[in-house]
Amino acid sequence: MTISKTNRPASIATFERVESQVRSYSRSFPKMFDKAVGATIYDIEGRAYTDFLAGCSTLNYGHNDPDLKAALVDYISADGIAHGLDMFTDAKEGFLSTFDRLILKPRKMDYRVQMTGPTGANAVEAAMKLARKVTGRNTIIAFTNGFHGVTLGALAATGNGKHRGGAGTPLSGVTRAAFDGYYGPDIDTAQLLDRQLSDPSGGIDAPAAILVETVQGEGGLNAASAPWLRKIEAIARKHGALFIIDDIQAGCGRTGGFFSFEGMGLSPDIITLAKSLSGMGLPMAVTLMRPQYDVWKPAEHNGTFRGNNHAFVTAQAALEKFWADDAFEREVAAKADDLGSRLQAIADRYDLTVMGRGMMRGLKVGTGQLAASICRTCFANGLIIETSGSHDEVVKILAPLTISNKQLNDGLDILEDAFDAALGAHRIAAE
Ligand SMILES: Cc1ncc(COP(=O)(O)O)c(C=O)c1O
Repeated sequence: MTISKTNRPASIATFERVESQVRSYSRSFPKMFDKAVGATIYDIEGRAYTDFLAGCSTLNYGHNDPDLKAALVDYISADGIAHGLDMFTDAKEGFLSTFDRLILKPRKMDYRVQMTGPTGANAVEAAMKLARKVTGRNTIIAFTNGFHGVTLGALAATGNGKHRGGAGTPLSGVTRAAFDGYYGPDIDTAQLLDRQLSDPSGGIDAPAAILVETVQGEGGLNAASAPWLRKIEAIARKHGALFIIDDIQAGCGRTGGFFSFEGMGLSPDIITLAKSLSGMGLPMAVTLMRPQYDVWKPAEHNGTFRGNNHAFVTAQAALEKFWADDAFEREVAAKADDLGSRLQAIADRYDLTVMGRGMMRGLKVGTGQLAASICRTCFANGLIIETSGSHDEVVKILAPLTISNKQLNDGLDILEDAFDAALGAHRIAAE
């Protein structure tokens, strides 16, 4: 049976009539899409858009990478297991052994891999529960502008008031600390946290964990410095807490290395990964823990979809294609340099700030209204791009890492023109 596209008139009115109003991205991009290849997504009228959103960093290797797609089609055609709860399957073995061989071992990382439910939020839930179980403590320290998902446990760690407002119940078990640079460059927020934790009357209960993003994906692309992160890890150790890095958005090559903290001298106790882990946009999330902290009892963090075998197949193919040597990493680093230079040129022209790191960059424009208007102009001109930050004041660039230099630069031309249009100046020809 094939689903015919021709005998049903596809209409956006269907979404307005049937789908919950909780939907969000579709409000910024009110077109119907039916096809996507690489860094391009097509609407049903055949108009091409360059995708600088990439599923919020879920499509780091682009849409429908041919090798990942072929691996999946072959697996399905051979009646490979689609769903097997958490039973042993050859697809899971293939992913685990490849992840161990290409990612963990070369980095001398000794971690156990927990298959959580397939969303990032569930990986964070598992990380928080595990830290509480290991330490016997309740409080998790999370940071201003942090985003960790919207299920109740993860939402307690998320700073964003709009998301927190949806909880309908008190969010507990998390104490907020100031992220790197929150009070400006002269205030060392790590020192403040240590001071408060070291003071028996500082008001923070002994923490189970400190949970941090190295670059805050939703919170405005604030990038923590390596020294600050090292201090936070040391503070966690000093106070008997586990150190958790949420690498769901910044990981899988987005900031350069496979993990966003590579080369920083950090050894997190727990790491969460999701988004681009499956390589093809299929739901998949994991929580990595140091072996001594793997204290779960069987089925204690259960779930029907802990083991998306189709995702295992594409994840393995992605690891083999992009992470078997350092060629991809070097290519991404070069692209990130070009991206940084082009954004810096716009920033210099209009006195703006470039945010983020690697291929996770943005321009802080001051207000959410201005950022939204720039994104709207981009969309009208064939570029899909979104905002980030506490006031949605950062225009955020999350192009697929595999995008060609030409398409990246063409997309940046559209972006630059939108800045020129919004900020009222004319494009200064660089040449
Ligand atoms: C750093 C981080 N953690 C957790 C999540 C939650 O992931 P999911 O939306 O898959 O639940 C996100 C999503 O954007 C994220 O950026």
